[in-house]
Amino acid sequence: MYKTLLTELEKGTLVITVNRPDKMNALNKDVILELGVVLDDVYNNSEIKSAIITGAGEKAFVAGADISEFLSLDAEGGATLAREGQANVFDKIENCPKPIAAAVNGFSLGGGCELAMACHFRVAGSNAKFGQPEVNLGLIPGYGGTQRLTRLVGKGKAMEMIMSADMVGADDAKTLGLVNHVFAPEELLAKTKEILQKIQSKAPIAVAQVIACINDASNGSHHGFENEIERFGACFATEDMKEGVNSFLEKRKPVFKGK
Ligand code: COA
Repeated sequence: MYKTLLTELEKGTLVITVNRPDKMNALNKDVILELGVVLDDVYNNSEIKSAIITGAGEKAFVAGADISEFLSLDAEGGATLAREGQANVFDKIENCPKPIAAAVNGFSLGGGCELAMACHFRVAGSNAKFGQPEVNLGLIPGYGGTQRLTRLVGKGKAMEMIMSADMVGADDAKTLGLVNHVFAPEELLAKTKEILQKIQSKAPIAVAQVIACINDASNGSHHGFENEIERFGACFATEDMKEGVNSFLEKRKPVFKGK
């Protein structure tokens, strides 16, 4: 169905694998286009409750935007590439009402690091390596890297990582707050699925509201507190809130319907 992606739906979790292992899963135009399409499916298909983004092969998650497409671009073409990519993929991931995790299984560089950072959280294999090496090419990150890395790790670390183009390994990425967990490569996907299964057992509308509220916080919204109040209130209008509270009072497990 896709030229550059593999997809597999298991227990409500769609595993989206960027599948160009001979090119370190670099994000060419086709990958960006197809990620946009598959994300629409994540938004709209009620059978999909959560998603994982990962890379094919053992070496790379995604080693960046496809450098071979750069030489034909001028200033306007570069800006368009970044603007359309951010809107159709990176912001779409961040704003998705269903949880999306990155399972980072190797090099996560440039647009690959940005792809991981757009996800709601990141889980790394012990072989993962993160970096924003664009300055090596006379470029800067264009898929949100200067913004999201700064929010995740703080200004000083982001400055040094992006200006030096140095890579950090999985354990250092965890210390920095760039990833939540580090697992052996062979366990990475199963452990990431486990985390999403736990989240899927919670009330889906509440989970969607959490994503929106936390995005407000990390995007520096001036309305984060007010939006939280409104979204908190909106939860009281859901069947799932009644089910959650009743199940607690009745000492049983809740059965949420996403309504
Ligand atoms: N864009 C296009 N092609 C890429 C790529 C990218 N971002 N990253 C890797 N590739 C290609 C290589 O050109 C090579 O293709 P070839 O076999 O046709 O020559 C293939 O993937 C394998 O990469 P190679 O460099 O031989 O593997 P390696 O193990 O020696 O090094 C990396 C791996 C990831 C360290 C190295 O490929 C690299 O530095 N990639 C670019 C990272 C980058 O600058 N990303 C930011 C882009 S804005």
